[in-house]
Amino acid sequence: MRELAPEYLLTPERGDGVTSVAAGVEADPHEWFGREAELVVEIGSGQGHQVTAAAAAHPERDFLAVEVYIGGLARTMVLAEKLDVHNLRLIEANAPEVLEHLLPGESVSEIWIFFPDPWHKAKHNKRRLINNDFVAILARALKPGGVVRMATDWEDYAEQMRDVFDGSDRLFKRDFAGDWAPRFEERVLTAFEQKGIDKGRIIRDLAYKKL
Ligand SMILES: C[S@@+](CC[C@H](N)C(=O)[O-])C[C@H]1O[C@@H](n2cnc3c(N)ncnc32)[C@H](O)[C@@H]1O
Repeated sequence: MRELAPEYLLTPERGDGVTSVAAGVEADPHEWFGREAELVVEIGSGQGHQVTAAAAAHPERDFLAVEVYIGGLARTMVLAEKLDVHNLRLIEANAPEVLEHLLPGESVSEIWIFFPDPWHKAKHNKRRLINNDFVAILARALKPGGVVRMATDWEDYAEQMRDVFDGSDRLFKRDFAGDWAPRFEERVLTAFEQKGIDKGRIIRDLAYKKL
């Protein structure tokens, strides 16, 4: 943290909670990177395997990893340094607040949400990130033509994601034909995905484009 946070970790102005983001304090993402480039945001980036691999493969794009687990962000910085990646910034914060308060409207080209916490007990389903309110927040942050990519190993969460986005015709259209999107070819296999596969669960990918 001492060595790498100064380059990688952003410290937003906080609201009430430790991982909150104050309302009304919008950032200019181009200032974080010192250039104008397409911005990709990964929500719940975990240990950072996906976002660091993508940043290394796409030096022409800029990446923001949003995660509430500081241990995962520390690990992500170590990976970023190993890969000599500099087009990446991290933020320890609650993702909806980052999208709603920190990022300007229509500033993001892609948003990735891979294996979000499933809250698989029915009584906890309301805590799931992806619901109608969140879709409106995503729509605000994305550029027209921007894409949301998702993956999950929980079938009923996959169906919930699809219902919520399919129901939002005004804002998004499917970026896949048929029931599910093909696996996003740049998605790396993480421990969470492997755990789902080991337990015999089917992995579902989805992709929606903002109109
Ligand atoms: C099941 S893990 C998956 C991690 C990673 N995407 C992967 O595939 O390996 C879900 C991650 O989302 C993070 N998370 C959950 N809710 C969040 C929120 N509201 N804002 C930011 N991160 C969140 C958790 O801390 C956890 O690291």
